[in-house]
Amino acid sequence: MIAPLLAASRLLYEGLARPLIFAMRPAQAAHEDVLAALRLADGLPALPVLLGGIRAATQPPRPVAVGGVLLESPLILAAGFVKGDGFADEAAALAAVESGRNIMPGWRSIPALCGLVEFGSFTRWPRLGNSGAVIWRHATSRSTQNRIGLKNPGAAAAAAFLGARRAHLPACFGINVAVSPGVSDPIQEQREAVEALAAFRAAGLQPAWWTLNLSCPNTEDDPGAHQTTARTRDLCAAALGALEGQPAPLWVKVGPDLAPEQYRALMRVFAEVGIGAVIATNTLGQPAPGQPGQTAGVGGGRLHRAALDAAALLLAERRALGCAVDVIGCGGIVDGASYRRFAALGVRAAQYWSALVYRGPLAAAVIQSEARL
Ligand SMILES: Cc1cc2nc3c(=O)[nH]c(=O)nc-3n(C[C@H](O)[C@H](O)[C@H](O)COP(=O)(O)O)c2cc1C
Repeated sequence: MIAPLLAASRLLYEGLARPLIFAMRPAQAAHEDVLAALRLADGLPALPVLLGGIRAATQPPRPVAVGGVLLESPLILAAGFVKGDGFADEAAALAAVESGRNIMPGWRSIPALCGLVEFGSFTRWPRLGNSGAVIWRHATSRSTQNRIGLKNPGAAAAAAFLGARRAHLPACFGINVAVSPGVSDPIQEQREAVEALAAFRAAGLQPAWWTLNLSCPNTEDDPGAHQTTARTRDLCAAALGALEGQPAPLWVKVGPDLAPEQYRALMRVFAEVGIGAVIATNTLGQPAPGQPGQTAGVGGGRLHRAALDAAALLLAERRALGCAVDVIGCGGIVDGASYRRFAALGVRAAQYWSALVYRGPLAAAVIQSEARL
């Protein structure tokens, strides 16, 4: 039953919808179309049940314990898809939540259809993100590129929004909090991460895992600066302090272009402070198409090699240390073969984003089936 359903989904999306979308809509317009549709879909009471039925029929449970969490399947939709609108300030974001507006398109329909989702990234304060062209596709390499610039409603409004909808959130999901770009003072950086996590806890949210994103490549920051040993140790310790007394583990997300020694040193820090898992990796900063001097993060096929190399280095250090920090693969997982390349390294769970564009909304089910998981 599953195989014919997935074949039908591939025919509909890859054979029909994707060629039409790619021919008619540039990446950014297509992304905005999807968000507009999700904004409406979240409000249709019967839809989550229907979408949940489609998922149940196409993605059988494959439980796996990773990073201190029992996941129902090894594939997680990565941060950056369900993250909410951008706002200029917290008062405006909170007023939008208060007005009942859906400021986080997909919050209900995407988990129903895709299964595991990491919400965010959320920063302590709202961000409008970058203006102009910010998302591109490279179809031949099945890649995406973006310089959205951490657009999000900010932790307080995101927490208020999700907290008011707790009863309709999935049983298992993650919340991703990013260090605030542009903050150079480590103490302020720690305070902002702590306050962001505290906002979600105060709203009564109980994710299955938290992720600290150390690595956004398309903001005003040099993400490498957030990933130094001392700064990472202090930041992770502060975040773990903010999470004390609750059961969910803290994961971290690193970039794909650190020096080998830096991955090894970071893994030692993660083991020392008690991180559950490290997501390898975020996007790879490259020149933005047609925008001289701007950087935009590459995901999908063009990221795959670098993400595999980062995961391999982290896993080698994990073995050398004999520590329990898991590595979650992320980067160019668009089919069974790319998933299996991570699995061959010892990865037991993975995140994907670009696969949504190239394989469609049932990407997790399709990849799981192709990888024979
Ligand atoms: C449009 C877009 C927005 C993203 N925003 C975030 C984000 O806010 N936080 C984050 O940790 N990663 C973000 N990412 C990175 C993805 O979570 C993922 O790490 C990256 O795309 C690599 O996975 P992929 O090769 O499957 O695309 C974003 C990616 C894209 C394409």
